[in-house]
Amino acid sequence: MLKYLVIYASVTGNTRLLAEEIYNALPVSPKEKKLVDIRSWHGEADAENYFVGFWANRGSCTLEIIDLLSSLHSRNVALFGTCGMGAGSRYYDALEQNARVWLSESNTFLGSYFCQGKMPIEVRLKYESYRGKADDARIDQMLSYFDEAATHPNRQDFMHAHMFTERMVSRIKDLSLEYA
Ligand SMILES: Cc1cc2nc3c(=O)[nH]c(=O)nc-3n(C[C@H](O)[C@H](O)[C@H](O)COP(=O)(O)O)c2cc1C
Repeated sequence: MLKYLVIYASVTGNTRLLAEEIYNALPVSPKEKKLVDIRSWHGEADAENYFVGFWANRGSCTLEIIDLLSSLHSRNVALFGTCGMGAGSRYYDALEQNARVWLSESNTFLGSYFCQGKMPIEVRLKYESYRGKADDARIDQMLSYFDEAATHPNRQDFMHAHMFTERMVSRIKDLSLEYA
């Protein structure tokens, strides 16, 4: 069994970039870790520790991630991902909660890391098309999230992902001492 599996869902590449950063930050040889796009995964690899990444879709994760999370038992699991919304811990907390509910109690949840990820221009056009049909203040806020997200994930996000990985690895070490 692998020591670490970094597995992610990413449509436009933002979450894949975070996944690569996390994979590279894991302090083991390439034989002990694997980086996998969930679209090309059929359950063939298993690991003691999972880093599961996803992009926010209507405030939650996608079905393939729900299937994966529901299938895990007795594993250590960390979550990560990207979303359009700004850095507000309440939104990130909600993303964590909405994914965590799919993990059975036999797993140990380690923690999560989220940051913004740029969105396709169609999303901005859609927000603009709501003018006159929805609250202007709300539309302005969505447009400002869109513009803010346009430069993410950036170097600082990658640095935070790296630090997150180090924290998770140290937590895993503590757990293995607890159960030794
Ligand atoms: C169809 C669609 C739905 C989205 N829904 C949300 C959402 O509910 N909340 C959010 O914060 N961002 C949302 N986003 C923005 C994406 O989560 C964000 O751009 C993310 O970084 C995309 O990740 P990826 O490049 O790994 O696919 C949505 C984007 C699209 C295209």
